[in-house]
Amino acid sequence: MTSAPPIPEIPEPPLLPGWDQPLCIRNIELASRFTLAPLAGYTNLPYRMSIRDVGGVGLCTTDLVNTRAILQGSSKTMELLATCPEDRPWAVQIFSGTPDDLIAGAKWVEAYGATIIDINMGCPVRKVVKGGGGAAMMCDTTGATIDLISKVVAAVKVPVTVKMRLGWDADNLSAPYFAREFERVGVAAITIHGRTREQGFSGSVNLAGIRSVVEAVERIPVIGNGDVRSIRDADRMLRATGCDGIAIGRGALANPWMFRQLNRWLATGRPGPRGTYDERLDFMVNHFRRTIAWRGEWAACIQFRKMSAWYCKSLRAGKANQQILVMLDKPQSLYDLVARLREQGPPPGWVDSDSMDANIHVPAGPIAHW
Ligand SMILES: Cc1cc2nc3c(=O)[nH]c(=O)nc-3n(C[C@H](O)[C@H](O)[C@H](O)COP(=O)(O)O)c2cc1C
Repeated sequence: MTSAPPIPEIPEPPLLPGWDQPLCIRNIELASRFTLAPLAGYTNLPYRMSIRDVGGVGLCTTDLVNTRAILQGSSKTMELLATCPEDRPWAVQIFSGTPDDLIAGAKWVEAYGATIIDINMGCPVRKVVKGGGGAAMMCDTTGATIDLISKVVAAVKVPVTVKMRLGWDADNLSAPYFAREFERVGVAAITIHGRTREQGFSGSVNLAGIRSVVEAVERIPVIGNGDVRSIRDADRMLRATGCDGIAIGRGALANPWMFRQLNRWLATGRPGPRGTYDERLDFMVNHFRRTIAWRGEWAACIQFRKMSAWYCKSLRAGKANQQILVMLDKPQSLYDLVARLREQGPPPGWVDSDSMDANIHVPAGPIAHW
């Protein structure tokens, strides 16, 4: 007889001032303080709707979109902006190194129906930074970035938020300064990834750095971000930083039940179950069907090749099955795989916490071509 895996100890939820009230981003009341962080290549409409189905997410954000491409009507960019009435509230994340484009793009996105406009000031990758967008905006010492953000705020009626990193490198932790100035010019909330641009995705998240951003502002919410993959991580983030909410990216890919569990944990001290094996299979099929509806069968197969490691790890489906997804070229192969896995049931010793290790590709370094 195999013994059941030990149940990890769940910390008591912290008593946080103000957390008995909903989180508001200016006039937008969120149903939960846990938001989906943008993950380029993943946080498209099919994935956002699949996450919303599971429940507990307060706000979803699109992949970052280049305002130049929006203004040029690029068909790929329009796909990234695909939405539906149930996909609410939703933030559209924009970036640009060109002030006029950023302002015009924000107006366009507002007219298109975004609940919130989020400006990316954290992206470390070369193709974004070299044009003066993403994390490069955190290097400005002339006031141009603050001036630009204030112009975007003035150009639209919807709340404008900013997502940024702690700074360019450890010697230039400019996030508290920018957060304070952004609040002054009317930015409605800040999401702060607790790493510098130099760190890329390496090292650990600097919780004290996030705290310094929380302390730099007076009223606007600060949403902490980085490496939250469990209740324990969330607990640590909340206690150490005093943030008003948490944005979760890779943790939600590994465990789409995360938002629901975090809300239950806060309300009752118990997170409740993650998805069962069958629910994980259902999630995958629904996500796949939505991806077909979004971009057609072939593109859905290509998209799911990228997801193979993540899904197979969380299901402990093994290398041979992963290979089927890596080579996916027709929907039926995925449906057959799911039917087989469903019939076999979870492999002995299957614990869904395995999915926490799911390997999600990140840029190799701050200057990676990506
Ligand atoms: C594959 C991938 C794509 C990302 N794309 C974006 C993006 O489009 N916009 C953005 O602001 N951050 C992006 N990020 C950063 C995440 O939003 C988040 O800040 C980071 O992954 C840390 O949070 P996590 O540990 O919860 O994933 C991306 C991260 C990854 C791994």
